[in-house]
Amino acid sequence: MKDHIVLTGRRSSLVLERIANGAPLWRHWGERVTPGDLPPRDEQPLSFSPDVVVPLSTAPGFGLGGFGQPLFSAHRDGRDFSCGWDSIEVEANETQLVVHLIDSIARIGLEQRFLLDPVSDVLTISATLTNRGELPLALCSLAPAILPLPPSSKTIRSFTGRHNAEFQELREAMPAHGWFREERRGLTGHGGPAGLFVLGDGAGWHRGPVHAVQLAWSGNSRLSIECDGPGWTLAAGEWLAPGEVRLAAGEAFATPELLATYSPDGLNGASANFHQAIRSRAPWAGRGMTPRPVHLNSWEGLYFDQDEARLMALADRAAAIGVERFVLDDGWFRGRPDDRSGLGDWQVDRAKYPDGLKPLADHVRKLGMEFGLWVEPEMVNPDSDLYRAHPDWALHIAGRAMVTARNQLVLDMSRADVRDYLFDALDALLGELPIAYLKWDHNRHLATAGNADGGASYHAQVMGTYALIDRVRAAHPGVEIESCAGGGGRIDAGIATRVERFWASDNLDAVSRTAIQRGFLAFMPPEMMGAHVGASPSHATGRVQPIEFRAGVALCGHFGVELDPARLNDVDRNLLAGWIATYKTHRDRLHSGQTWLGEEPGLMWQAVGDPAHLILFVTVIDPPTDRLAPVRLPMLTGDGDISVRPISAADATSATYSASWLAGTGLPLPHMAAHSIAMFILKAA
Ligand code: GLA
Repeated sequence: MKDHIVLTGRRSSLVLERIANGAPLWRHWGERVTPGDLPPRDEQPLSFSPDVVVPLSTAPGFGLGGFGQPLFSAHRDGRDFSCGWDSIEVEANETQLVVHLIDSIARIGLEQRFLLDPVSDVLTISATLTNRGELPLALCSLAPAILPLPPSSKTIRSFTGRHNAEFQELREAMPAHGWFREERRGLTGHGGPAGLFVLGDGAGWHRGPVHAVQLAWSGNSRLSIECDGPGWTLAAGEWLAPGEVRLAAGEAFATPELLATYSPDGLNGASANFHQAIRSRAPWAGRGMTPRPVHLNSWEGLYFDQDEARLMALADRAAAIGVERFVLDDGWFRGRPDDRSGLGDWQVDRAKYPDGLKPLADHVRKLGMEFGLWVEPEMVNPDSDLYRAHPDWALHIAGRAMVTARNQLVLDMSRADVRDYLFDALDALLGELPIAYLKWDHNRHLATAGNADGGASYHAQVMGTYALIDRVRAAHPGVEIESCAGGGGRIDAGIATRVERFWASDNLDAVSRTAIQRGFLAFMPPEMMGAHVGASPSHATGRVQPIEFRAGVALCGHFGVELDPARLNDVDRNLLAGWIATYKTHRDRLHSGQTWLGEEPGLMWQAVGDPAHLILFVTVIDPPTDRLAPVRLPMLTGDGDISVRPISAADATSATYSASWLAGTGLPLPHMAAHSIAMFILKAA
């Protein structure tokens, strides 16, 4: 009888086999099984293969007869390149597995942790590698785990993106040889977190086996799938720059956590698992999320065109339509008439705000709103007092020209003096002003990312930023933070433990946003998705769209406004105020429960809540060629009746259908024009 380790979730399980001379072997990751369901392991060597069969383990090494993706790659000045574990200790219970491994020849230790949350079905995996030798160990790569994917896998769903076009979905067939996505820009990236979904045979939005991963990391990453006999292996971890990690005797290096999940309920099932896991990691986990306030952000309304009177008047107009949090964006600090200078000098521009920001912040609060402020702590403009005083604080490579982007350089966040300076600047602002919220931006990629010692500084940059955010949060626990990086360039489960909101994109065009937001929702829950109503024509695309469409699309996330209400005509301003009221009525439901996405010919839909109380959005982008197909809602599995009430700023009447009709035949839709969104409330009758 084999010695199995079984971790059991709600709908998934993990089975590993203990062996005496190596890391536990993968037997299964997928649907819930018991070890007795598994066929025996094939121990026959193939022709032209080593006589010892080396099956996939949790920590595959290199060089000793296994030829698949190794967990790590390392050497000591060219030696100790191979790895085989000779000391193995395993601690396991029903949800957790900890593997302690030592290679006494290469003098490497490894601790690997697998924690399966029985509620979300999300497996959190991490690994820590220790140099147990005398000489330094160069670590070239280390993944938390190499995961098995079943031979029935069919399609990879991943995302690519850039500024203004985040989370663009890609679907590709499983590779004959291999597939990879590497991020070397030093940031999570506009394609979203290092993550993907693997669809098994027959899998779609609502049904079928899906395996998915996302890396909890805001820096460089590597995702790879390799064909390995029948089936594939999946590796996800940090991408390390040459020479970046060199471990002295006794030193250790830890991977970011990898979140991995299996769902038999299609892409929506896997995303729902991720949403639960992210919710349990969110800063408010345990104490409960407060209702997500309606934002007004000054950026697209005023850009750099700021002064106290203008901002106070904008705040008046914001409060009049029901805004609850007023955010002063870029342009408030000294030397910042445009984006060419000033970053790093975090003191108020007295020309624009003669008495500082206090009068504006007080004015905002008197209007019943919270006050929020934009900062970009990790950045410095060469034209700033900070840079003139400390040119060595910017990341640089000796002898090489600095690479600017948006006229700015990046501060070396591995330096304690840099972090202290930034902490003091932020601490002073948060101490002096009644700030409820920081929009924390990062508007460029890393290049010439060298530290004072001449080494690559990508990993240390992320760790330094995390440390600074953690310190700010500890000193000001009531302040919420939004993660922004030229729109959605830093959206991942690593920073998600430190921020309440993500700015999904600078593109507010509601057509572009529909795709961006659906990609965002693959990994993150809707209450963390900053979504604003922008101007028409859209500043990003020039497209003209009705206010109902722009507002309805923003209602799918954490709602806000990013325009000057003075530029709306009376009708549109009233409609916007109506949508703000609608958001407030329904935000509890919009920001809890499950999210489902789906499609029918000519339309896309999103439903949020639970089968007894759902909010449904139906979006039409192009002019329909015929009557719209009814929307089938597969989550309505009960046999009762459901009342369906269309919502718009004006009230509308409800109709009742049986749940099985809505699941099987679908909700009939009224005529919808191109660029429109309809919203319905569905309740068990
Ligand atoms: C980035 C952000 C925008 C805005 C500007 C300010 O582009 O994504 O929302 O804050 O910076 O410079």
